Amino acid sequence: MSRELGVGIIGCGNISTTYFKLAPLFKGLKVLACADLNKEAAEMRAEEYDVKAQSIAELLDNDELDVIVNLTIPAAHFSVSRAILEAGKHVYSEKPLTITLEEGKALQKLAKEKGLSVGCAPDTFLGGAHQLARKYIDEGSVGRITSGTCHVMSPGMEMWHPNPGFFFLEGGGPILDLGPYYIANLINFLGPVKRVAALTSMANKTRTVTSEPLKGQVIPVETPTNIHALLEFANGATITLSASWDVWSHRHANMELYGTEGSLFVPDPNFFGGVVEASGRNKTIEPLEPWDHPFGILNQESPQGPRANYRTAGLADMAMALIERRDARCSLERTLHGVDVMTSILKSGEEHRFVELTTTCTQPAALGIDEALALLR
Ligand SMILES: NC(=O)c1ccc[n+]([C@@H]2O[C@H](COP(=O)([O-])OP(=O)(O)OC[C@H]3O[C@@H](n4cnc5c(N)ncnc54)[C@H](O)[C@@H]3O)[C@@H](O)[C@H]2O)c1
Repeated sequence: MSRELGVGIIGCGNISTTYFKLAPLFKGLKVLACADLNKEAAEMRAEEYDVKAQSIAELLDNDELDVIVNLTIPAAHFSVSRAILEAGKHVYSEKPLTITLEEGKALQKLAKEKGLSVGCAPDTFLGGAHQLARKYIDEGSVGRITSGTCHVMSPGMEMWHPNPGFFFLEGGGPILDLGPYYIANLINFLGPVKRVAALTSMANKTRTVTSEPLKGQVIPVETPTNIHALLEFANGATITLSASWDVWSHRHANMELYGTEGSLFVPDPNFFGGVVEASGRNKTIEPLEPWDHPFGILNQESPQGPRANYRTAGLADMAMALIERRDARCSLERTLHGVDVMTSILKSGEEHRFVELTTTCTQPAALGIDEALALLR
């Protein structure tokens, strides 16, 4: 296989600019074309980023493309990824891979039959902060992790996203939208999950958009917006995960992991950077010595201040994995397991019982400084 893969993008909305902007940082990727149901959206991005705008059919048929990135809305992920595989191309999807486990398994079967790869975001667990936490755990610095808590809670999405309706339909909700970041990071730290239980609810059956351009529009809520889940990992660790869009403010940390020798405080798994803190048995919480991980370097301004953003690293790792014939960190096996965890959480909420997972996966290989540098141009 050549040392560079031709990349096409389907779905030219909000997140696509991140992929267009950041893909050139990485080896092995050349973005050549894009498509969208909305022709103007594809044409606008094509002009902005100097690629070819095509119809979806033309893009699927484009011989220059080896991998197509699926940046459509969650409810379209399955049909679009299936069409990409049927067209004989590898897929890299935004999260969630699919909104049901059955769809994810169907993609797995098709990919296997076709000898193609499927990768999926999130790739934020490859960030400098999360890989530092991973190294600290792997070195045994907090002993064996036995438990932990994760909290991702806010008032919602309708105050910032230009078209927030999909977040509140089946396939949206905080567990399928933000859960992937937490679950991928927990798999990075602890490996696969064995069973889950959850209580789920929604504060309101409709929400009013306050962002432009749809300000004032009332949108239906058809999926739980408040989830309290318990996760038992195959290694015995037990984690509480609260994901909610019904909370105006709170004082919980994003992710805390408790080990037999100390505790680890992990920054927001939705981002690549941040400060990792830890304590030993002396209970003094201190920041870990920062390291020169390339995916922790601040490279972007945001309303909250400068941040590290290396989204597309997972796609680059998948491209290099195809070239080098190795396991991709954001692999189908791991992301399918993530879908199993999230959909089982929702099922537990509906059925009021523990749900055993039917899939499993391996922990991804750590991505140290050298491995991360090897992905960059
Ligand atoms: N916006 C973010 O900050 C963000 C961050 C991380 C991940 N994501 C994920 O990225 C995906 C896209 O999110 P977004 O915010 O860019 O959404 P968006 O609504 O802004 O854009 C989605 C685009 O996909 C197109 N589309 C929808 N169905 C399609 C189909 N069947 N075929 C072709 N095109 C289709 C739409 O026309 C639209 O242009 C979601 O899965 C979301 O979870 C978004």
